[in-house]
Amino acid sequence: MLTADAGGLSRAADLLRLGGLVAFPTETVYGLGADATNPRAVAGIYAAKERPSFNPLISHLPDIAAAEREGVFGPDAARLAAAFWPGPLTLVVPRAEMSRICDLATAGLDSVALRVPGLPLARDLLTLVGRPVAAPSANRSGRISPTRADHVLADLIDRIDAVIDGGGTNVGLESTIISCLDGEMRLLRPGGVPREAIEEVLGRKLLDGAAPTDEEAPLAPGMLESHYAPRAMVRLDAEEVRPGEGALLFGRKRPPGIETAGAIRNLSESGDLVEAAANLFAHLRGLDDARVPAIAIVPIPAHGLGEAINDRLRRAAAPR
Ligand code: TXA
Ligand code: MG
Repeated sequence: MLTADAGGLSRAADLLRLGGLVAFPTETVYGLGADATNPRAVAGIYAAKERPSFNPLISHLPDIAAAEREGVFGPDAARLAAAFWPGPLTLVVPRAEMSRICDLATAGLDSVALRVPGLPLARDLLTLVGRPVAAPSANRSGRISPTRADHVLADLIDRIDAVIDGGGTNVGLESTIISCLDGEMRLLRPGGVPREAIEEVLGRKLLDGAAPTDEEAPLAPGMLESHYAPRAMVRLDAEEVRPGEGALLFGRKRPPGIETAGAIRNLSESGDLVEAAANLFAHLRGLDDARVPAIAIVPIPAHGLGEAINDRLRRAAAPR
């Protein structure tokens, strides 16, 4: 566990440059970082996570100039980068001729997923490394994304070289992923930047999902239905809580049966979707740790960050 100071960052950067695996905080979730130009290091990510290797990874950069060395930005992509970077947005763009990102990190695609994280500590680390850093969420595949350093260690303690302890992340959902290929702007994954905010900057609607013609496209993020899965069974849009179930609440309403719940968490007492997003993974994990057989989740509004929250919850509830 490295401290979030100059000494810790410099040690972390050294480990990354040597091909090590270092988990670090971003404003969304903790990422499991490896030098994106080093295929052995990137292979270490898949191994540590036990992640299916067909999933391409997001490469992290300290600023727009560094991102422009890895990807080709058309006018729309450039507009989104200017509006939302640094921040919880990932842009999938054609790979630049001079890009050093290795094939394993892009799963062999000629596009790259790039992101300039909002957390200054993360950008300081990326500046020190001086190379793109591939970083999926720092959890084992199929487990809940970590929003604290101790979550990372709970999943990966024997498998990584270090984690930088930067406290709790504040967005709590992964970045929104926008594909900017073939002149079309598509929402691949809802996340920390709401769809409406992106559409406002673009001046038009986003299309949904991967291009239909694109048979070779990688599985869109989260198409592995059990990606965000707690061990407990998950019941969505619950109107009541059954005896012994864990209850995940939103707002001040107390559903019938709450008295006999096995454990209770509230995403946001005041009904704030931003607060709910920040609490989502920690609360799912908390309920799961209480070993309840099932988690009853009350309906969550669908607007703003609610879209991403509901998307994550549907995945958590998918049969497996
Ligand atoms: O908030 C986040 O984005 C976190 C933090 C650590 O930055 N990172 C993260 O990375 O969620 P990851 O690897 O779990 O998500 C990467 C997703 C994959 O599901 C993949 O399908 C999609 O990005 N992706 C990556 N490259 C792509 C590409 N070239 N085309 C389409 N999708 C791509
Ligand atoms: Mg993940």
